[in-house]
Amino acid sequence: MNDMAGTASEYELLMNSDLEVSIQEFLDQMMIYRSGIKEIRTKLEVLDDEFQTKYSYNPIHHIESRLKSIKSIMDKIKEKGLEITIDNIRKNVTDIAGIRVICNYLDDIYRIEDLLLAQNDVKLLRRRDYIKTPKPSGYQSLHLIVEVPIFLSDGPFPIPVEIQIRTIAMDFWASLEHKLKYKTDNEVAEDLRYRLKICAKAIQELDTEMQNINNAIADRNS
Ligand code: GTP
Ligand code: MG
Repeated sequence: MNDMAGTASEYELLMNSDLEVSIQEFLDQMMIYRSGIKEIRTKLEVLDDEFQTKYSYNPIHHIESRLKSIKSIMDKIKEKGLEITIDNIRKNVTDIAGIRVICNYLDDIYRIEDLLLAQNDVKLLRRRDYIKTPKPSGYQSLHLIVEVPIFLSDGPFPIPVEIQIRTIAMDFWASLEHKLKYKTDNEVAEDLRYRLKICAKAIQELDTEMQNINNAIADRNS
């Protein structure tokens, strides 16, 4: 994922728009969101390291993160028919700081969730389990929006961070399906959408069986 926010051209675009000064200031504060990503990423890495030390096992395959671009933030507010205010941005754009955690096995997803939410400076704002209930497209992932305090010179500043947790197989599926967004031929897109739904089903079975096999191997070794 690309860290796009705050690029020179974006600032130029903003300077030419008629944003209120306070909003300009807010956008200058995008570093707070960057810190939110760092904060959650570190928590996840610490948990993964601990598992490696204790059980010679890594629940996390890898982590990706991105800061939402200023243009996307503005588009989202406009899409919702809202006025561009700091309050509206804070309340309605909860995915400015985005983290994606890719795990090996299904159980790792919920293990990571439990361990992260058990930390007393992490507050759960919203949870959507698209693994138990996949989206109509076939999309699977666990989505959490958490709030984490960032300690600035004048005190703590709580900010929301969107976390998507999924298996390697789910991630593989989501990146291919994402490409459909740019497909303009409707008839072809419909056929591909249908085939992707079949793949999503196959991935559910694959993830379940990989988990079962992994459990069986662990049982034999214990
Ligand atoms: P709602 O806003 O209530 O629909 O739920 P949500 O916020 O949990 O999901 P949303 O649709 O806002 O999507 C958030 C992110 O999840 C997106 O930016 C994508 O990264 C991912 N996502 C959601 N649905 C899909 C999907 O059908 N396909 C793919 N490839 N990614 C998806
Ligand atoms: Mg959403």
